[in-house]
Amino acid sequence: MLDLVAPAGTPVPFSFLLKSLFPLPDSKERGDSFIDKIQQEYSIEYCYLLSTGRGALYFILQAAKQLADPEKREVIIPAYTCFSVPSAIVKAGLRIRLVDIDPRTLDYNYSQLEGVDSKDGLAVMACNLFGILSDMHKLERIAGENQLYLIDDAAQSMGSRHGSKYSGTFGDAGIFSLGRGKNMTAYEGGVLVTNNDRIAGKIDDSITELAKPSIKAEIKAFSNLLFYSLFLRPRLYWIPARIPFLHLGETVFDPDFKLSQLSGIQKSVSALMFNELSGINSIRKKNALAIGQALIDNGSYMIPGYTESNCPAYIRLPVICPNNSWRDRAIQKLVSRGINATIMYPCGIHQIPGIREHLGPDCGHFPGAEMVADRLLTIPTHPYLKQTHIETIISTLAEMK
Ligand SMILES: Cc1ncc(COP(=O)(O)O)c(C=O)c1O
Repeated sequence: MLDLVAPAGTPVPFSFLLKSLFPLPDSKERGDSFIDKIQQEYSIEYCYLLSTGRGALYFILQAAKQLADPEKREVIIPAYTCFSVPSAIVKAGLRIRLVDIDPRTLDYNYSQLEGVDSKDGLAVMACNLFGILSDMHKLERIAGENQLYLIDDAAQSMGSRHGSKYSGTFGDAGIFSLGRGKNMTAYEGGVLVTNNDRIAGKIDDSITELAKPSIKAEIKAFSNLLFYSLFLRPRLYWIPARIPFLHLGETVFDPDFKLSQLSGIQKSVSALMFNELSGINSIRKKNALAIGQALIDNGSYMIPGYTESNCPAYIRLPVICPNNSWRDRAIQKLVSRGINATIMYPCGIHQIPGIREHLGPDCGHFPGAEMVADRLLTIPTHPYLKQTHIETIISTLAEMK
């Protein structure tokens, strides 16, 4: 069977899984070591571990809602982002306010954001898509001028920095995701970080009240990680890729998601994975540079956020094709040659079925988001991508017409 390179992922060494079964005898709580590392490295006062990144977003939004005036109920997000973001907003009982994106950066279209009437605004969110950092200085200014909480969603950009300050640590609070396709992974998981005493005060009790993961949940976490670690390899990835009920790569709008703490197994694995994060991000950058430069030179493609001098640590490389049919044909060709290229989100947030009732005003049409949903494909950048795969990607995309 042909090798198939997974669209995204992070290799998890088996030795980490073994170590997670035998935590150090002197550690009272297995998460302590991971939390300590984040607090020290990222200069963070409060850090909480949850079973998902969207759960972390939900708790931040709940805290902001409790602290703000009652008419402040809208959360501003880009019209093209992960469907988990609107899911968390709706679960927190808030309304979604959309702003179009700039396809060159996948960040906000800032002239549109500056024009938004934010009298009912509670918060604005940075989404740092694919690891391309949002313009945090602009967002800090806009949030300050409009009395909005600034939430730094670094689900896709853990380990990247603006100068010496890490993505996720800007604004009032931030999150990281430990999901399967993220910068580092525990199969699933979320990290909530904040230096804001008032937000932490509201979050503290609600998170400690969450049920502790059962033994069954620990066994499930271990077996998920074991299978993930095995089947992410190009030799074996074609097996999970063919199992439809795994729903690999699907993104759903589901405000009814469950909230729970991160399992002990996942805490231990995360503490070990954290030591690998900057090395893995460097590999992603190196792979992205090799492919990105060739595609830019080709002239038919646009790579959002790409600069040769400051290439982001893309969790996958986003490539905007000249049109939709070109994009779909390119994906088919790449898959047939062993590279599991994929689309990212199938539509803008405003086009998700059933979302209308949760949207604020002026949420009808977003040309930037629609164009990107129509034409964007993603290329793997993870450490299982080898030079021969890179050559296949470049030559396949060069053949397209
Ligand atoms: C931008 C963004 N925010 C939030 C999330 C939610 O993270 P999780 O999948 O861990 O719930 C994701 C996940 O894909 C994401 O991409």
